[in-house]
Amino acid sequence: MAEGMCSLLLLHLLLLCVVGSCELCHAWWTQNYCYDDEFCPAVVDYDTRGGPVAGKLNVHLVSHSHDDVGWLKTVDQYYVGSNNSIQVAAVQYILDSVILALQEDPNRKFIYVEQAFFQRWWREQSKHKQRIVKRLVKAGQLEFINGGWCMHDEASTHYIDMIDQTTLGHRYIKKQFNKVPRIGWQIDPFGHSAIQAYLLGAEVGFDAVFFGRADYQDIAKRRIDRTMEFVWQGSRTLGSTAQILGGVLNNLYVPPHGFEFDIASADPPIQDNPLLYDINVQERVDSFVKLAVEQGKEFRTNHIMWTMGSDFTYENANTWFKQIDKLIHYVNKDGRVNAFYSTPSIYVDANHAENIPWPLKLDDFFPYADRPHCYWTGYFTSRPTLKRYVRQLSAYLQVARQLEFLIGKRKVGPTTDSLEEAMAVVQHHDGISGTEQQHVADDYAKRLALGAAEVL
Ligand SMILES: *[C@@H]1O[C@H](CO)[C@@H](O)[C@H](O)[C@H]1NC(C)=O
Ligand SMILES: [Zn+2]
Repeated sequence: MAEGMCSLLLLHLLLLCVVGSCELCHAWWTQNYCYDDEFCPAVVDYDTRGGPVAGKLNVHLVSHSHDDVGWLKTVDQYYVGSNNSIQVAAVQYILDSVILALQEDPNRKFIYVEQAFFQRWWREQSKHKQRIVKRLVKAGQLEFINGGWCMHDEASTHYIDMIDQTTLGHRYIKKQFNKVPRIGWQIDPFGHSAIQAYLLGAEVGFDAVFFGRADYQDIAKRRIDRTMEFVWQGSRTLGSTAQILGGVLNNLYVPPHGFEFDIASADPPIQDNPLLYDINVQERVDSFVKLAVEQGKEFRTNHIMWTMGSDFTYENANTWFKQIDKLIHYVNKDGRVNAFYSTPSIYVDANHAENIPWPLKLDDFFPYADRPHCYWTGYFTSRPTLKRYVRQLSAYLQVARQLEFLIGKRKVGPTTDSLEEAMAVVQHHDGISGTEQQHVADDYAKRLALGAAEVL
C-alpha cells in the first residue's frame, strides 16, 4: 500500500516535470540557470544618457535628499549620524556615497541643498576629494540648489535673517566652486510667504522656486486648472519687477507611489535578471508610464518633474542610482515617455523653452492645511522665547557686523562668524518655527548664546 502511494507520487512528479508546471523542473528542463560566466547571457549595459525630447512627455528625474538642519536630532547629530535611536539619519554618509555614485556614471546627477551640512562635510575632505567634487560640480553632475545655510522657515523669520542665511551659503558656494545657485527649493516649509517671490526672484536672482506644501484644496484646484506652476508676484506695488516662476511639486517632495528606492524601502526594485524569479520590468515600466501620463495631464508643458528622494535619503546612494539607471534604460526602450537624469535648472530651462503663458499668483500660501481641520498655524507662535531670542540677536548681529567692518575683522579672537552661523542654522523650518524636539531647541539656543558671547 505504502509502496503504491510512493510510486504514484513519483509518477505525479514526473508528469509535472513533463508539462513543465513545477518551477524547479522548469528550470531543469529549460536549463535557464547559469553557473559559469562562459555560458551566461550578456550583462545589460544600461543606457542612462538622455535629455529633453520634443514631442514626448519628458520625465525629469531629480535625485535629492531633504536634510533638516535640526528637527528630531540636532544639526550635528544629523551630520554625524549619532542618536540613531531617535531617527536613522547621517548626512556625512549621504554625501560620501553620492559622490562615489556620481563618479560611476557621468550621466547621473544629484542636487544638494543645505550648506550647513555640505560645509561641515567639505571641511573634512582631503584636497584630492575636493578636486573630485569640483569636477562633478563643473560637469553639472552635482548642482547646488537653494544653497542657503538651511531651508528657511517663511512664517516666523525676519526678512533680514532670510537674506543673511541665504547669503552665507551662497558666499561659500561662490568661493569654492565659483557658482551661483539658480533655483529656489523651499520644498518642506509649512506654507509660503509672498515676500519669497520678491526676495528669491528680484533680490537673490533665482529663476524659479519650487515647494511641496500648499493648502490641500488649493492643490486639488490647481491640478484641475493646470496651475501648479505660475508666475508669482510678491508685491502689488513692484509688480513684475518682483516676480519669480513658482511651482508646487507633484507629490510633496517624494517620488510617485511605488518608486522610492532608499535602502529600507518596501517598493519593488526592477528585477530584470532572466536567471532569477519575479521579473517585473514590464510591470514597472507600465506603472512608470501610467503615473507620468496622469501627472502630465495636470501640468502645462511636455515636461514634468519627479523628486527622487525624501528625508535623509541616499545614505546608500547606490540603491537609488542603480534603480534609476534601470528605469531610464527600460522606460526609454519602451518609448511611450522619455525619462532622464535632470535637475530643477534643466527642468526650468526646458519649461521656459516652450514659451507658453503662465497663470499669475499674487498673494501668499498661508495658512497651510494638509487635510480637513489640520491647519499648520500653531508654529506661528510656539516657542515664543526662542523666537524672541532670535529677533534680539538678529539686531545685535547687524550692529556687530557693521562695527566689525569699520574696525576690520580680527584674524584671531572673537568675530561675528559664530553668531552669523548660529543665526543661519536657527532660520531652518524646524528651528525658529518651533517644530523641533526640546533638546534640539536647547541646542539652537546654546549656539546662539555662544555666538552672542563673542560679539557682546
Ligand atoms: C544623544 O547621544 C548622546 C551620546 O550617546 C547622549 O549622551 C544623549 O543623551 C543623546 N541625546 C538624546 C536626546 O537622546
Ligand atoms: Zn524639512
